[in-house]
Amino acid sequence: DAAEKGEYRHFMLKEIHEQPRVIRATTEGRVTNTRVLEQALGTQAGNLLEDVRHVQIIACGTSYHAGMVARYWIEELAGVPCSVEVASEFRYRKHVIQPDTLFLCISQSGETADTLAALRQAKKAGFRAAMAICNVPGSSLVRESDLVIMTQAGPEIGVASTKAFTTQLTALLIFTLALARHNGLEESREADIVEAIRLLPGQVDQVLALDADIAEMSKSFMDKNHSLFLGRGAMFPVALEGALKLKEISYIHAEAYPAGELKHGPLALVDGEMPVVTVAPNNELLEKLKSNLEEVRARGGELFVFADKAADVRPQEGIHVMPLPSVHPITSPIVYTVPLQLLSYHVAVLKGTDVDQPRNLAKSVTVE
Ligand code: G6P
Repeated sequence: DAAEKGEYRHFMLKEIHEQPRVIRATTEGRVTNTRVLEQALGTQAGNLLEDVRHVQIIACGTSYHAGMVARYWIEELAGVPCSVEVASEFRYRKHVIQPDTLFLCISQSGETADTLAALRQAKKAGFRAAMAICNVPGSSLVRESDLVIMTQAGPEIGVASTKAFTTQLTALLIFTLALARHNGLEESREADIVEAIRLLPGQVDQVLALDADIAEMSKSFMDKNHSLFLGRGAMFPVALEGALKLKEISYIHAEAYPAGELKHGPLALVDGEMPVVTVAPNNELLEKLKSNLEEVRARGGELFVFADKAADVRPQEGIHVMPLPSVHPITSPIVYTVPLQLLSYHVAVLKGTDVDQPRNLAKSVTVE
């Protein structure tokens, strides 16, 4: 056990640090310098993607958050309508599957009972094809799908998913570009995003170098009972995933909201005892986000902002800023996930919880 963890105190920390390598492994053989290699997604990928008019994503837990990010990408880059739903809801309601739907299941283990049940049910209703994004070769999900993109995360031991999530996102972005090519994405835009994908391992490395600073920041969360995570656009699911990590391993109640919904409820909760975490890459929503931050600050809420170093968010009383590398807006959800993983990890270590095996949770939920 100790040997497998190597120099790391926990599997979770080891897995967080593996991300540059496994993200690179997930892109290998699937992109050139400028393009996504569609045939790497399967010999029938080209024919199939040409027919897809709708994408239905199904997943649970962290994998569901990956699906939520993918929806922003798929609608923005491919212009194909995309729905995302947790498997346990989808399987127990009367659902309508649109014609020419690609039914896309995301699962680290490929054995999550609800996800498999949703897929089997949808098969009865009919769809164009089933695709899986999965980390375990030979799993039930892989065997039951027509197209498969394997994430190359390697075994994930920590119950709280980290490297599986960022490799799912990498695979989903590669898939999105392939689908987008069939739907009019310009070559130059594809080349621009492929370049951004290739920069990911180095950028994640830069974030990992902030480990000591993030550990310092984590001290402010130790004695808190509640926290709020905010993000806009594709950063909203990143906020959801950051909040999930914190609650899973530190047992601090963490809620995530799209920043624009702040005034519709959660603002009433904000006071000096409620830390507010925000992910703010330098994108077109930054100005709006800044005004949300002011609203929080005006109510005495302490802010922890993970912001592009070029975003001009300045630290001041009650506003702690963690400057992150400047990244492409499309790939920023992948990079901005990493500091939130580290934050949760360090809070949990300070609180002395069982980081790798949090109470009441299982790595894979194979029974209902
Ligand atoms: C459990 C795990 C989570 C995981 C979820 C879905 O709740 O603790 O980390 O995200 O199951 O698992 P899957 O294997 O389908 O991605």
